Amino acid sequence: MKKIFALVMVMIFIVSAEGMSTAELRPLSKVMVHRLAQMTKLLVYLALGDFDNVKVNADSFAATVKADTAGLPSEPLKAANTNLDKAIEGFSQAVRKKDPPPEIISKFGGIMAACYGCHSKFRDPK
Ligand code: HEC
Repeated sequence: MKKIFALVMVMIFIVSAEGMSTAELRPLSKVMVHRLAQMTKLLVYLALGDFDNVKVNADSFAATVKADTAGLPSEPLKAANTNLDKAIEGFSQAVRKKDPPPEIISKFGGIMAACYGCHSKFRDPK
């Protein structure tokens, strides 16, 4: 059952990665589509129970997010981006410490909360 779930996740990831032609997108949209792909990748490795790859990918994701902060146009946006960076680092630490699965899942939810935290404030509300 777990294997079937993992396989479905991998297929979703491959399909979304192939549909990901970002050439026409504005710079921030490109960053965001990449973030979505990174989240999917973390889910795939979680589903496969491949914690080494979860950790490696979470760390490179956190580094990319951190590097994005300087280019953002306002302090509130920078703060929201730093929240995301910290949430990913917290998740990565939980994985490294081999925290119990509910703890790891909760930290993954924390990453999503950091995505939504920024979207709810800074995207067009309509
Ligand atoms: C610092 C603020 C901020 C954070 C944090 C953030 N986003 Fe975004 N996101 C935005 C903004 C602003 C837009 C709208 C961009 C535009 O329309 O130019 C957006 C748009 C998007 C889009 C739509 C892109 C498109 O144009 O097709 C996706 C997908 C997305 N974000 C995913 C994510 C994911 C996944 C995360 C967390 C891992 C995340 N974002 C974290 C600010 C943020």
